[in-house]
Amino acid sequence: MDRSNESFEDAFRIIPRRLIGKGGMGEVYEAEMHGVEGFARPVALKLIKEEYSTRPDFIRLFVAEARLAALLNHPNIIQVYHFGRTGIRYYLLMEFVEGMDLEAFIVRHRLLRKPVPPEVAVRIVTGILKALAHANDVILPNGSRTSIVHSDVSPRNVMLSFEGGVKLGDFGIARAAEESAASPGRYMGKPEYLSPERIEDGVSSPAGDIFAVALVLYEMITLHHPFYNEDIERTMENVRYAPVPAPADLVPDIPPRLSTIVLTGLARRLDERYADAFQFLDALQELISRFLAGSPPALSDYMSELLEE
Ligand SMILES: Nc1ncnc2c1ncn2[C@@H]1O[C@H](COP(=O)(O)OP(=O)(O)OP(=O)(O)O)[C@@H](O)[C@H]1O
Ligand SMILES: [Mg+2]
Repeated sequence: MDRSNESFEDAFRIIPRRLIGKGGMGEVYEAEMHGVEGFARPVALKLIKEEYSTRPDFIRLFVAEARLAALLNHPNIIQVYHFGRTGIRYYLLMEFVEGMDLEAFIVRHRLLRKPVPPEVAVRIVTGILKALAHANDVILPNGSRTSIVHSDVSPRNVMLSFEGGVKLGDFGIARAAEESAASPGRYMGKPEYLSPERIEDGVSSPAGDIFAVALVLYEMITLHHPFYNEDIERTMENVRYAPVPAPADLVPDIPPRLSTIVLTGLARRLDERYADAFQFLDALQELISRFLAGSPPALSDYMSELLEE
């Protein structure tokens, strides 16, 4: 018997096991998705805050973004499985990444007073850029193509798996929040990763994502954030006007070519910045082949050594 068009109501059960973090939109849990006969798989559950869950305009934009994000299927992207609701709170189910986020990775290096080695940092950033490049050209179910802007590239949205994977999560979500009346005029992304043009005219673009990636690279190899200030207004002023020291002037071991690449990603003028993830990747590829000789340590080995130190 042909069962197409029949629906299976028998839903899976989700059991949150451990709170792993809180962000702007809600809490994230390590959870299990249970089927029948003891079948279970690990998932990450993001429970959207009640104050957002009860805003129809926010939910509408959030669903639109989540629907796009669910189309992304790439090894460098945290896969979105499901969007649902329990009581009045909406939730997202995602691939659970066993590992550490890039912020924790950077904090660990700060504690050890040891910048991330250039070859390791370049490898991580290459993963982030491959995710963005994939999202640059997505085929929709109707066959048309679209480009998904991330709009919140920052260390906490990058997971490093203990197996050595680099995975970018939370595509487009910050933009949905900003554009809805649930948070009028508020930037949901972290202010220190906003691009100057986004601060000036509020527009998210692939070039803004590039700026944020370059910042993340800068931060890893120097352990210094060129714009951060405790005061948000000052941070945003710094993003627009503060002089940016060349990474090679802060840390002597940084290859000058890498320093130039980072500064190109951080150019305030759009015609001086890499236009998209592909251009940035090309520059890094050339750097790897010419200046970062020798194969870098596997990320998984590097992480386990880092955690032992
Ligand atoms: N899929 C996942 N697998 C494992 N851990 C995750 C996953 N998604 C998020 N986390 C962890 O949960 C923390 C909180 O994530 P969340 O996205 O809620 O906040 P955020 O990234 O700090 O802020 P934002 O709301 O801007 O995304 C992250 O920093 C990360 O350590
Ligand atoms: Mg996040």
